[in-house]
Amino acid sequence: MTYGRYRWFDEQKRRQQLDEHIKRSRTASFGFQQVPEEEKVQWVCRHFNTVARRYDFMNTLLSFGIHHAWKRAAIRMMHLRPGDRVLDVCGGTGDLARLAARRIQPGGRVIIYDINHAMMQAGKPRLDNDMLRRTIGHVQGDAERIAFPNNCFEAAMVGFGIRNVTHMKRGFTEMHRVLKPGGRFMCLEFSKPTAPLFRWLYDMYSFYVMPFLGELLAGSRQAYTHLPETIRLFPLPDELASILAEIGFANVRYRRLTNGIAVVHTGIKQ
Ligand SMILES: C[S@@+](CC[C@H](N)C(=O)[O-])C[C@H]1O[C@@H](n2cnc3c(N)ncnc32)[C@H](O)[C@@H]1O
Repeated sequence: MTYGRYRWFDEQKRRQQLDEHIKRSRTASFGFQQVPEEEKVQWVCRHFNTVARRYDFMNTLLSFGIHHAWKRAAIRMMHLRPGDRVLDVCGGTGDLARLAARRIQPGGRVIIYDINHAMMQAGKPRLDNDMLRRTIGHVQGDAERIAFPNNCFEAAMVGFGIRNVTHMKRGFTEMHRVLKPGGRFMCLEFSKPTAPLFRWLYDMYSFYVMPFLGELLAGSRQAYTHLPETIRLFPLPDELASILAEIGFANVRYRRLTNGIAVVHTGIKQ
């Protein structure tokens, strides 16, 4: 099934992206396309295999470098401390992990946890000093089944990744499980700009400029059409805050960045 271009969906449609509906319908969204529930993870892996090599370059180009400022703001909001153990779910090439690593010295550790080997490999050359190499580790695995025991991290974060996880609530529940009581949670995701004129410009940019540049510079128009589609199906900030509270996070708060293009949610495991 396909939908109109640059459309922001209503709450009912966004709810259909949640675990309960996916389990009932046995289908999940891959952008505006419906795919069998159990196949979505393979679609996502293929997608990131395609973009891995140029992922960091394209992120910086398409966001005019602003994603670095969003990531710095998100990490500040986690109030990391020396010695913390931090899980970076869907950590990819490791931007958030590297920022976190600087804040948890001495003695801290960050694990980049990602299902895609190519994405993690693409980030390894950027572990370019001893501190980063000593502090950051990689584990390949699915966010829906995090391969760590209960209560073992002081902090868990996910940046621009949870949109890709087939059962999003399951992913958040797993992050909650591996956090220690009192542990800090952070989710950085794209969302809907609040000002109508800015949103219109953003829509034009997302559905015309980004796919064009994706094709020209990364060799994949499809990959950079998929990105804005997934954003338009993702819960709005209040909806996501309710989901996180329902899962068991306390003190759930969020902050919009750049008129709401990106939003940081934080919470605590009680
Ligand atoms: C858009 S990238 C974000 C990377 C990084 N966090 C950042 O902010 O630049 C999304 C990442 O999520 C990973 N991913 C997607 N589905 C996943 C899953 N089910 N479990 C673990 N990682 C997943 C992808 O492989 C990819 O590296």
